[in-house]
Amino acid sequence: MKSIDKRNYDILIVDDEPLIRQSLFEILRIEGYHAHMSQSAEEALNFLAEQKVDIVLTDMKLPQKSGLELLEEVKKITPDTEVILITGFGSIESAVEAIRKGAYDYICKPINDEEIKSRIQKIIEHKEIVAENLRLREMLAKSNPTSCGQMIGSSAKMQKVYHVIESVATSNATILITGESGTGKGLAARAIHQMDENRCDKPFVEVSCGALSETLLESELFGHVKGAFTGAIRDKEGRFEYARGGTIFLDEIDAFSPMLQVKLLRVLQDGVFERVGDNVTRKTDARIIVATNRPLTELVENGEFREDLYYRINVISIVMPPLRERKEDLDILIKHFLEKYAKKNGKKIAGISDEVRTMFLNYKWPGNIRELENAVEGAVIMSKADAIQKWDVPNSSKFDEAKKRVTAMKIGRSLKEVMEQPERDVILAALEQNAWNRNKAASALGVNRTTLYNKMKKYNIEFKKPK
Ligand SMILES: Nc1ncnc2c1ncn2[C@@H]1O[C@H](COP(=O)(O)OP(=O)(O)OP(=O)(O)O)[C@@H](O)[C@H]1O
Ligand SMILES: [Mg+2]
Repeated sequence: MKSIDKRNYDILIVDDEPLIRQSLFEILRIEGYHAHMSQSAEEALNFLAEQKVDIVLTDMKLPQKSGLELLEEVKKITPDTEVILITGFGSIESAVEAIRKGAYDYICKPINDEEIKSRIQKIIEHKEIVAENLRLREMLAKSNPTSCGQMIGSSAKMQKVYHVIESVATSNATILITGESGTGKGLAARAIHQMDENRCDKPFVEVSCGALSETLLESELFGHVKGAFTGAIRDKEGRFEYARGGTIFLDEIDAFSPMLQVKLLRVLQDGVFERVGDNVTRKTDARIIVATNRPLTELVENGEFREDLYYRINVISIVMPPLRERKEDLDILIKHFLEKYAKKNGKKIAGISDEVRTMFLNYKWPGNIRELENAVEGAVIMSKADAIQKWDVPNSSKFDEAKKRVTAMKIGRSLKEVMEQPERDVILAALEQNAWNRNKAASALGVNRTTLYNKMKKYNIEFKKPK
């Protein structure tokens, strides 16, 4: 431990006898402490109302309020102020009571200078250890953060994510973020932008590529000139231009058509592009982050995604873990969403019941954090009590399904299989009816392309070339 600077310590001596008071003051002052004096408990309390001290050294017997009463009040105002009581000869019972009430130590009269000094030294050493411990814990908390940007979670898997984000934030490298739906890919992209000191005050531009048709996406990304297509009534800059100096986040990159993949490859290789219908080549310095919830390697294998583009974007990749693999973060996430939605809805909600907690812990959360956030938000809106109960949670039968599935597995054919068969049939029928054009099938089913892809994968529906 580093050497102690006694000047940092304030000690208040409380005694009605001027001689004792003065001599204690001198001993402590010469030792190097910052000493103060009061002649009664009342005077001491007034002093303490103005200034915090580390140690109160008080006589047990004082004119009005006793040393014991003073001890009780000091502990109420500043629990970490230590109190030493000086007791008269033979009053060991009150000394024991003092310890019970929170005194650090007691000293019997007659007072011995060395004893006083060593007892105080002991307290100071103890305080230094506590402070050091606190410092170390804070340092540890900093190196093991429980959040990054707006992402919450302290599990080892999230720590790994934070670590990568921190180390790549200030580079210009393209980043690929993968992970199931609702795992926080969008938040991770935003965190990278926020932590990049060269770009954080410039635009962060997010494009949901899966939501747009090829033509719209092209003009959205690269812009167009007047007359480039019907409806192009004036020149328009694209998102790549708008993101200059900042970050462009291309979500659902797997929705890029082969033509757009070529254009993106050119941006990644040379940082250049043209507006639709234009022949002026423009430059972009936007940092590119892309995300997908589909395994790109598989798309490369079946020829849907260019291999050269895949290598270009997969320079640094961040894999967002699914919630079921980091259940240790559930409590902190629930607390976060409870606070957020209680505040939004003007409610006071202290927590969730044990039953709900167990239900949440046993559930697989296929929709990950988004699903959890929705569940908590719905429950907060419904809740009428202090803690969220099972009946407050919307759609709570799905949590029971998880239980039932386990039982069904035991009796042979899983309930899951039984329940999922109709969904598989409907998807197959939609694909057939739309000649295996997945865009059309998805819109017939009322879902987006990504959801359809995920379901096809889940049900092992092999992709057939459109007829
Ligand atoms: N670690 C987290 N801490 C707090 N909130 C989170 C966290 N991860 C995700 N969320 C919240 O969950 C929701 C979904 O997150 P986000 O949109 O980033 O997921 P995503 O992986 O991009 O999903 P998708 O693939 O469906 O677009 C958002 O409301 C986001 O604020
Ligand atoms: Mg997203």
